[in-house]
Amino acid sequence: MAFNLDQFRLDGKVAIVTGAGGRGNSIGRAYALGLANAGASVVVADLNEEGAEAVADEIAGAGGKAVGVGVDVSDEASTLAMAEAARAEFGGVDILVNNAALMVDISYDNCETIALEDWNRAFAVNLNGALLCSRAVIPSMRERGGGRIVNQTSGGAYPASGLYGITKLALVGLTTSLAKQFGKDSITCNAIAPGNVTSDAGKLLVPDDSPFIQFLHAVCATRPRGEPDELVGALLLLCSQAGEWITGQVIHIDGGWIMQS
Ligand SMILES: NC(=O)c1ccc[n+]([C@@H]2O[C@H](COP(=O)([O-])OP(=O)(O)OC[C@H]3O[C@@H](n4cnc5c(N)ncnc54)[C@H](O)[C@@H]3O)[C@@H](O)[C@H]2O)c1
Repeated sequence: MAFNLDQFRLDGKVAIVTGAGGRGNSIGRAYALGLANAGASVVVADLNEEGAEAVADEIAGAGGKAVGVGVDVSDEASTLAMAEAARAEFGGVDILVNNAALMVDISYDNCETIALEDWNRAFAVNLNGALLCSRAVIPSMRERGGGRIVNQTSGGAYPASGLYGITKLALVGLTTSLAKQFGKDSITCNAIAPGNVTSDAGKLLVPDDSPFIQFLHAVCATRPRGEPDELVGALLLLCSQAGEWITGQVIHIDGGWIMQS
């Protein structure tokens, strides 16, 4: 079929974005708004239910379709309830964006001294959360003839140098595994690895005057920091007909940081 810009549209599709209702200017919010803009009905899911509802209201206020749902991605029953909410509200699920994660509220202690409880909690959310959410929606995707899963990994996984990066590198393993195991069901799975993003959480973790920003200035091919909205184009590619043949890939959106690290 000849290429047509409409292949990026998502009219009639149903998307879940996890971690989209937390801090004000977040990547999840940008993803939810972007998917709604492309025509999808969006389930805005977050541990912070009030925040999720606020983002859903923002989408509805702009003429889109959305519902806010409280979810703990590390809790299987909660992820099943989220999938059921998507079915009850919009009829099923076509797109899942596993964006929820612990990033600011995670231990940056080293591997010798880190508390096992912190380690397990980080994996429960950042890795198991993506597994549980995927398992909750795969049956619906299969019923609907296919689906798209996008996992939010990080430039901090290349190379991993602490718990956060380790969980994000493990998520790359889950990405290729889901891609291989469910490709024959026409379900693709890819990952986005952002560099340093100026979400509220990103700015809290890496303030403007941080030496890390100077390091990024030195190693990035272009500018070292991006805004949440600059990730949306890649997400739409991976979730739409335009990206139907892409699976098992990690798209790095980071000003070229990956080439240097
Ligand atoms: N900001 C950056 O520089 C950057 C860079 C690379 C990757 N990322 C990744 O992008 C994603 C979004 O980052 P952000 O900067 O918007 O941060 P953020 O902290 O605003 O977003 C994370 C969201 O996950 C939610 N969450 C945490 N635990 C949860 C749970 N158990 N169940 C459901 N929701 C839960 C939080 O409430 C929050 O809304 C994360 O996966 C993060 O690791 C961020």
